[in-house]
Amino acid sequence: MQMTLAGVLYFVSLMFLENTGQKRKHDLGGNKRKKQMKGLKCSHVPFSGHTYSQREQIRQEMRNLTAVPTDRTIILIWFWPFNYKFSPECIGSDLHGLHFTDNRSLYNQAHLVFFHHRDIRTDLSNMPKEPRPWFQKWVWMNKESPANCHRIPQATSLFNLTNNYRLDSTVPGRYGEITQRKTAKDDFKLPAKDKLVCWIVSSWNQNHKRVHFYNELKKHIHIHTYGAAFGMKVSRDEGVQLITSCKFYLSFENSISKDYITEKVYNPLSMGTVPVVLGPSRNNYEEHIPGSSFIHFEDFDTPKKLADRLHYLDQNQEEYMSYFLWRREFVAKRGSWGMDVCRTYKYMENAPGFQTINNLNKWFWG
Ligand SMILES: *[C@@H]1O[C@H](CO)[C@@H](O)[C@H](O)[C@H]1NC(C)=O
Ligand SMILES: *[C@@H]1O[C@H](CO)[C@@H](O)[C@H](O)[C@H]1NC(C)=O
Ligand SMILES: *[C@@H]1O[C@H](CO)[C@@H](O)[C@H](O)[C@H]1NC(C)=O
Repeated sequence: MQMTLAGVLYFVSLMFLENTGQKRKHDLGGNKRKKQMKGLKCSHVPFSGHTYSQREQIRQEMRNLTAVPTDRTIILIWFWPFNYKFSPECIGSDLHGLHFTDNRSLYNQAHLVFFHHRDIRTDLSNMPKEPRPWFQKWVWMNKESPANCHRIPQATSLFNLTNNYRLDSTVPGRYGEITQRKTAKDDFKLPAKDKLVCWIVSSWNQNHKRVHFYNELKKHIHIHTYGAAFGMKVSRDEGVQLITSCKFYLSFENSISKDYITEKVYNPLSMGTVPVVLGPSRNNYEEHIPGSSFIHFEDFDTPKKLADRLHYLDQNQEEYMSYFLWRREFVAKRGSWGMDVCRTYKYMENAPGFQTINNLNKWFWG
């Protein structure tokens, strides 16, 4: 007789649960419980591959062991990304099946644990010390480009899923996205514009491709510049006003990597401004946003030709407006950590079984 991995895990889990011998009652009461059970369906990571009654038994045993209701998926966030706290954002779906926490004493019960890459120490000394429970999956969470974060040699086969802006992540977590409207609508009104080209930039590095390009482009067109790099820090609100008031915004990424398309693009798209993008190839952009919504720096042989095009569009309103036609059918939205967590949770509801990332470093840093 052959035993599947899920079967082995199941028996191991029963042994583990029986041996601890601790019994604690967690009575959820009639209707409330039924409702929760209904919501459960397949939301249980540890139970993939089990029959319903097997799952029920494991659930019952786990409930007896723990103070928290384990008919909820526990998601533990090990580090807040750059200390930024947030809540899960699950638009249009209910969250009663999810317990989201930063309380590390729930480590042994957590189904998913999120680790934000930039907060992991290279020697892994701030990672969990206790062994990983069999049902638990570790999520590698990262929004930085390979140029902006370091590989950690021992982390290459530590995680079970990736949550990154790359489309080939287990669960992509992007800076924004274009979603389809329920019905097409011609309701776009161009905001008032009093500037042609704007750029807000905080970090300045002579070696960045964007700096080279800017230095050439500015010889041919006036660029309104803001941000710390120009000694003009702008608040979030000021940034919104500025971007909105310009016909074009320079969405120049600080580094060029596949799928690394950030809020620098999604901000102007959502505010009614045309992004002039510098980043990965046009083809790669078109996997994320409509091809007619932006101008790509490589669409022109020289920075001068790009400047000529922008001057031309300044004088040809109808053609300029064609960059907004996508808005009839689509809406641009910014992403968030909370949405990423929610997506990962939903992904786990479909309960894929054993998963592992064996080559994180090669995949991400090449
Ligand atoms: C869980 O605890 C309840 C109440 O103590 C007990 O009746 C039940 O048999 C236990 N279930 C399992 C599977 O251990
Ligand atoms: C963390 O969880 C433990 C176990 O449930 C609980 O005793 C403790 O009070 C919690 N700590 C915080 C800060 O909520
Ligand atoms: C998660 O990945 C680790 C490391 O590869 C592996 O040992 C563990 O079995 C995996 N767990 C699950 C639930 O997939």
